[in-house]
Amino acid sequence: MTAASPETVELTGLQPSRDDLLGDVLKGLAASPKRLPSKYFYDRRGSELFEEITRQPEYYLTRVELALIGQCAAQVAAAVGPRAHVVEYGSGSGRKTRLLLDALEDPVAYTPVEISRSALVGSVQRLDQEFGPVQMLPVLGDFTQRIPLPEPERQARRVLVFFPGSTLGNLTDAESVRLLSAMRETMGAEGAALIGIDLQKSPALIEAAYNDAAGVTAAFTLNLLARLNRELGADFDLDAFRHRAVYVPEAGRIETFIDSQRAQNVTVQGRAFGFAAGEAMQVEYSHKYTDEGFAALAARAGLRVVHGWNDPRDWFGLRLLQPA
Ligand code: SAH
Ligand code: AVI
Repeated sequence: MTAASPETVELTGLQPSRDDLLGDVLKGLAASPKRLPSKYFYDRRGSELFEEITRQPEYYLTRVELALIGQCAAQVAAAVGPRAHVVEYGSGSGRKTRLLLDALEDPVAYTPVEISRSALVGSVQRLDQEFGPVQMLPVLGDFTQRIPLPEPERQARRVLVFFPGSTLGNLTDAESVRLLSAMRETMGAEGAALIGIDLQKSPALIEAAYNDAAGVTAAFTLNLLARLNRELGADFDLDAFRHRAVYVPEAGRIETFIDSQRAQNVTVQGRAFGFAAGEAMQVEYSHKYTDEGFAALAARAGLRVVHGWNDPRDWFGLRLLQPA
């Protein structure tokens, strides 16, 4: 289905409906322990807050990856060759995309797959102005679902999947293997994928990135509850919940929770859910990788690492993958 947004960008609309949101939220609140999917962080306000996170001094991920892409873009372009169709998952503001499209030789089309309408429309408008000859084929949708690939007018020589930001780390291992397998299908036998991964490092550095002093990450996390109040008429008392992010070295991941500050009831569409004082609701994982761990995950999806680049401190990596 093709639809014009109010901002006049033509996009394919496959986004989760209000019923999907409601169903996932009711299921997560009924579970024990309670949990909510992190993909629902990203309404308009959530996307703005994420961009603000990327400007916090503690959140090294974006700065380090931007510099790394700048350094290896020419090598990526040489490995990929001319006339690629770039398919990006969770494209956000598209800041990293600019660097890639700039380096590639005559890219044919760009398909961002993004769950946040405001982020998608804003980024496509900016990129379209800058990269006129590249056909913009945006898809408003959930990349964990099956996304039919739009067909560019000009024939592409290969598909390059771009998945920066370590957004893969927000998925469980099983979900990651499913998504990587879907990418392998999307890219076909001749294609490739460029994936950004946050690497394991000092737990203090990682924990600081998810507990910035200005409290932007806390506001980002709690916006999820504000969104449920806005869109589902829920009655979360935002002052009665708190953000908490801890690094669990054995799992190699940040685990983010929203903790209930007192015993309370919350109502969503007429259904009441009790929270105990101190009860933790799990809302996000952010996995951190080792080289071997990431290669093993890719192998489970039938992909192999053909090139790898890390920043000089080995904080963040980019990996180019091809079908094994
Ligand atoms: N790639 C950008 C943005 C990362 S933030 C960067 O590296 O800075 C993660 C992005 O993925 C957000 O824009 C969010 O809206 C999007 N996203 C998260 N889960 C998604 C899903 N399941 N399907 C589609 N987009 C998703
Ligand atoms: C998008 N994703 C990779 C971010 C991360 O680092 O896990 C989202 C985020 N959550 C808190 N801060 C940033």
